[in-house]
Amino acid sequence: MNLKEMAGFAAAEEIKDGQIIGLGTGSTTHYFIEQVGVRIKEEGISVMGIPTSYQSFLLAKESNIPVTTLEEHDVDIAVDGADEIDPDFNLIKGGGAAHTLEKIVDYSANELIIIADDSKIVDVLGKFPVPLEIISEATKPVFSELKDMGADPQIRMAKFKDGPVISDNGNFIIDASFGQIDNPIQLEKDLNSIPGVVENGIFAQMVDKVILGTNDGVKVLKS
Ligand code: 5RP
Repeated sequence: MNLKEMAGFAAAEEIKDGQIIGLGTGSTTHYFIEQVGVRIKEEGISVMGIPTSYQSFLLAKESNIPVTTLEEHDVDIAVDGADEIDPDFNLIKGGGAAHTLEKIVDYSANELIIIADDSKIVDVLGKFPVPLEIISEATKPVFSELKDMGADPQIRMAKFKDGPVISDNGNFIIDASFGQIDNPIQLEKDLNSIPGVVENGIFAQMVDKVILGTNDGVKVLKS
């Protein structure tokens, strides 16, 4: 079992019968979602998922997890991945361009568990650029603001499509390197106050628990 798989499996064990689960996006949550499907099949637990992307929606369907929406249900527990995790459990997310819906679902959850391999733990956020979902028409003014804030913004380009990545919501994704981020709480607010920014990938003060896959086994860190 690889480290992401270990974390995903351990998180699936935390799920209780009857819960509404926020289904995060990415390669680590992939293992979690599949394992929730296994528990439905083998143990008969009755749960529903609220996907955070087309990826997690399709995987939930494949895994026979019934899906619902924030309109219909409150989220008991959300399980999501991360690109960086600092000692105060502030995160950078959005490596998969899904951070807008992830933040909405994760924020509304009663409990938020982050799953990752231990390479995602950092002393200070900022090596991974901060993803921003933006309205395409706002690209020039948003770039100008980000440069004034000391960042080096880039439009994220697609790998198997010509041109930019288009998010599940039909928007551009910008990756903005700030270097070391000393105050993620403030930066999260500042970025969202730029007109045209839909959401940014800093998730400050939201996490209840981190489940890490490490070479010494699964480690659970609580905030
Ligand atoms: C998607 C995300 C992912 O959760 C994050 O990029 C981690 O991905 P992975 O589990 O593949 O390392 O924020 O927008």
